[in-house]
Amino acid sequence: MKRIKIFSYLILISGLLMGSNQKSSEKIKALLHKPSTVEKAQQQAVALVKLMTPAERFKLVGGNDMGTYPIERLGIPAVKFTDASAGVRINKNDYYNKTTAFPCPQLLASTWNTTMAYKFAEAIGEECRSYGIHFLLGPGMNIMRNSLCGRNFEYVGEDPYLAGEMVASYVRGLQSTGTSATLKHLIGNESDFNRRLSNSVISERAIHEIYLPPFKRGVDAGAMAVMTSYNLLNGEWTAENKKLVTDILKKELGFKWLVMADWNSVWNGQKFIQSGVDIEMPTGKAMQRDSSKIIGSKHIDRMAESILKTCIYAGYYDENYTDSSKIDKWDKRAEIAYQTNLEGIVLLKNKGILPIDPQSVKGTILVAGNNATRLELAGGGSAHVIGYNNTTYLDALKKAFGEKNVKYIESPSNTDLESANKIFLFCGFPSKGKNSEAEGLDRLFILPDNELISRAVSLNSNTIVCLQTGGSVEMIWEGKSAAILQAFYGGQTGATALTDILTGKVNPSGKLPYTFEKKFTDSPANGYNQITSDKLNRVPVDEILQDNLANIFTTDKNTAKFYTYNVDYTESIFVGYRWYDKKGIDVSFPFGYGLSYTTFAYENLNIEKNGDEVVVSFDLKNVGKVAGDEIAQVYVTDNECSVERPLKELKGFKRVSLKSGETQKVVIKLKSDAFKFWNETSKNWKLESGTFNIKIGNSSRDIRLNKDMTL
Ligand code: BGC
Repeated sequence: MKRIKIFSYLILISGLLMGSNQKSSEKIKALLHKPSTVEKAQQQAVALVKLMTPAERFKLVGGNDMGTYPIERLGIPAVKFTDASAGVRINKNDYYNKTTAFPCPQLLASTWNTTMAYKFAEAIGEECRSYGIHFLLGPGMNIMRNSLCGRNFEYVGEDPYLAGEMVASYVRGLQSTGTSATLKHLIGNESDFNRRLSNSVISERAIHEIYLPPFKRGVDAGAMAVMTSYNLLNGEWTAENKKLVTDILKKELGFKWLVMADWNSVWNGQKFIQSGVDIEMPTGKAMQRDSSKIIGSKHIDRMAESILKTCIYAGYYDENYTDSSKIDKWDKRAEIAYQTNLEGIVLLKNKGILPIDPQSVKGTILVAGNNATRLELAGGGSAHVIGYNNTTYLDALKKAFGEKNVKYIESPSNTDLESANKIFLFCGFPSKGKNSEAEGLDRLFILPDNELISRAVSLNSNTIVCLQTGGSVEMIWEGKSAAILQAFYGGQTGATALTDILTGKVNPSGKLPYTFEKKFTDSPANGYNQITSDKLNRVPVDEILQDNLANIFTTDKNTAKFYTYNVDYTESIFVGYRWYDKKGIDVSFPFGYGLSYTTFAYENLNIEKNGDEVVVSFDLKNVGKVAGDEIAQVYVTDNECSVERPLKELKGFKRVSLKSGETQKVVIKLKSDAFKFWNETSKNWKLESGTFNIKIGNSSRDIRLNKDMTL
């Protein structure tokens, strides 16, 4: 009898406990569920953090390789991150093995087509969503101040306005699929040479006018994440830089979502948790070093809240995030990649040799160059993509011109070069190994194939040079070449698209998103990698994470002399064409430049003020024989100002498709931002009244129309 009583008592207790467990798990489920407002997401995050133990909070704010840790006791799932802006990178532990290799973002920028940026990113988002990836670790938007930076191909050129326009559309397109964009790398990461030890010394004005605008546009477009960079900014590592992350990113730009540190970029855990960054990646190792002082701190609570708020608001803890219903649309996504190439490849020079009708070729087409047969679809590092159905340049040419007419010779002799009817050279840097163009190092200004190109152009006047690079290179051979094309890294459809341009199936229309300087010594970045003793900063070694010490500046780990070095951005706001214009330096090809197989005429510039806007309009006519796209560019010059300003600055553009003989009225509206500069004294944007000159060009150095206006 007694036994029966005890037994029924136990049943009652366990029933009650189960009921309360069920209740609490329902409560947690409700807290994880996507709400309708940001405020509710914040409240839910705060409530969840209260339910977590200090150890669980600490676990959440240190990364779990490519994502976050799950908090199993409370049923908080992990979220997953992946690289990057040119398509989904496949890591060794990933369960998927097929993703599209899109062209690099720099090529996307050279389309100057914001609708294309939207579609491009939407297609990448579709693959992320299908594979259950929550955050794409892109787009990258460091400004191309330095042609040697190994990661330029991942970024969107030298101009803050063009970069901002492309980034905003990229973010919207990607996030339309539910996948979050991560704006990177905040900020001053314009070189990959010793990137973890370089201190970018940048004026407040240049930060605001040049380096921040793409981030601002991304934030305004609703980006859900930001990644800090490896370098220091004005003396502080960016992931430990409260002024940058809290004051500028959060307060000034109004960013309210997840901020992550770049991989292994945190040196001082205690400083890090106070900066405003929310998660140390790929693990919490710097924080772990100081865990006794960090666990239980209010900063960790804030960080955990921010991670949870972002994921709750994005709906990442709801069960239906992974959605593979669109994964089969491979052809649609490959078509977007191909169209991007068609609009982004830039024809730099054409002595009338292009396009070449395959039927008209008599004699051998000689193909050479280090990229003719290898598949360098992307630059190296975390942005590298592999693709599928890949085609080499040689195979694409054979398909177009006929197998028997095209001959590949790895090391052509002078006789081979002289006797060819035409020569196509495909040249670039490898993505791995010696002389590569890749993350983690900067590259050479001279192409590995420089000697071959020089020899070919001097022996055969029908030599066409096709470049696959993430930026400018020395071109001593330019004068003698018959044609030059900048094909960037084209991903899996790059070779077919380039061939379709060479044969005239498609009219080229891309325009350079950066300047091709003649020699690197002309660049404002020249000398950045020569580390002299006056540029070194001694760092007290006990303040930093010891195992990050392996570097050339440490003479001895035990005596621990540890240095960072300054990269002075002495040109301030005069980056890219702003610099070459100011100094009157001749360049190989200017910003905004690109040829077509047709020609365009500009007429009838009209400027009107309409409320807050300045409405610029003009007629654009295709005066050539074939249809084509033109990218018309609006530059603004402040005629007189209390501070020095660039001779011109891009403030608007439009891609226009015109049939032969067709005219279109182009209208571009400028907001008041187009006329402002950053005032370092009052620390805000300033519009000074006076006259401004509005310039319409088809490149930054080919201004076709201009008119003054008064504001
Ligand atoms: C890169 C980031 C990248 C991360 C994860 C870092 O080395 O700088 O851009 O997203 O690795 O792969």
